[in-house]
Amino acid sequence: MNTQRVGQTDLVSSRLSYGCMRIAGTWNPNEITPERETAGRAALLAAYEAGYTLFDHADIYCAGGCETIHGNLLRDTPSLRDQALIATKCGIIFGGNPNPDSPHRYDFSKAHILASAEKSLKRLNVETIDLYQLHRPDLLMNPAEIAEAFDLLHRAGKVRWFGVSNFSPSFVTALARHIGRPVAVNQVEIHLGRLDCFSDGTLDQCIADDITPLAWSPLGGGWLGEGGTVGAGDPRHHLLSLLDDLAKQHEVTRTEISLAWLLKHPSKIIPIVGSTKPEKIRQAVKADAIDLHREDWYRLLVAARQKGLP
Ligand SMILES: NC(=O)c1ccc[n+]([C@@H]2O[C@H](COP(=O)([O-])OP(=O)(O)OC[C@H]3O[C@@H](n4cnc5c(N)ncnc54)[C@H](OP(=O)(O)O)[C@@H]3O)[C@@H](O)[C@H]2O)c1
Repeated sequence: MNTQRVGQTDLVSSRLSYGCMRIAGTWNPNEITPERETAGRAALLAAYEAGYTLFDHADIYCAGGCETIHGNLLRDTPSLRDQALIATKCGIIFGGNPNPDSPHRYDFSKAHILASAEKSLKRLNVETIDLYQLHRPDLLMNPAEIAEAFDLLHRAGKVRWFGVSNFSPSFVTALARHIGRPVAVNQVEIHLGRLDCFSDGTLDQCIADDITPLAWSPLGGGWLGEGGTVGAGDPRHHLLSLLDDLAKQHEVTRTEISLAWLLKHPSKIIPIVGSTKPEKIRQAVKADAIDLHREDWYRLLVAARQKGLP
């Protein structure tokens, strides 16, 4: 596999990642029908064929059902394993687990990290998770415990690289100072409707510390993609029409322009494409070839902010 730097290491060759959160077509594992599994496999295969080389999962996506669909595909077509890196996450526990009145919470305890990794490895049908991310900041985290869990997983060959998700810069620093190994990625929500990372220090820290930002929901969950809409009178219409104009100029769809806007940033953002439609999954990779003009980049920023720059 050709590689490119992610964080402080050489990790992926593609500038786009494929997000597996929606491949089961449901969040209830009991609702995964053979038809849904077939559709999920078709999405994954389209992403492999289109050249995505980082696939993003989490243990909570359909309660492990998305990892299982991917694992079943790898069992049936083992050659795919060498074509892409697999990322997953742990640390979120939904309410009602283990008891009906248990609250929704986060857990970065050593025991939880180790047990979650074992379950993901089994479901994904792999010996190694390439990138293991802590999903949302656990306010009770003990960095020394996390370090122990990471060391055990790394030494056993079960995890190659570690990352975080939805961490503020100071939370990344608090963890990174103690774990004695690089934080490869911070996976955060970044798109033209969510600009916080550009001003809250997240992307600055990524540049300073060689942490790769992975952008989740790069199309804002769909409205920034081709055919996406906002309500009548919504001020975001202006942004969408600018995107459409640029799409026409570059002979692509609005999706690729929204993704190219992220790719232009010097922190080397990797957008995680979330469509489940093979055609859209293939189409999105065209973003990689677009280098937006600096003026157009700022034009989109100002439209997204809905106010001029100082
Ligand atoms: N770390 C976190 O906390 C976190 C949170 C959320 C997501 N994520 C990760 O980010 C990934 C992407 O998130 P996302 O699915 O919300 O991303 P997204 O790309 O912003 O949204 C994808 C959704 O938009 C729809 N869509 C509509 N028009 C589209 C178009 N032209 N092109 C592509 N999609 C279009 C898709 O529907 P169709 O399927 O019908 O195309 C799909 O429902 C997830 O799979 C997951 O890996 C992480």
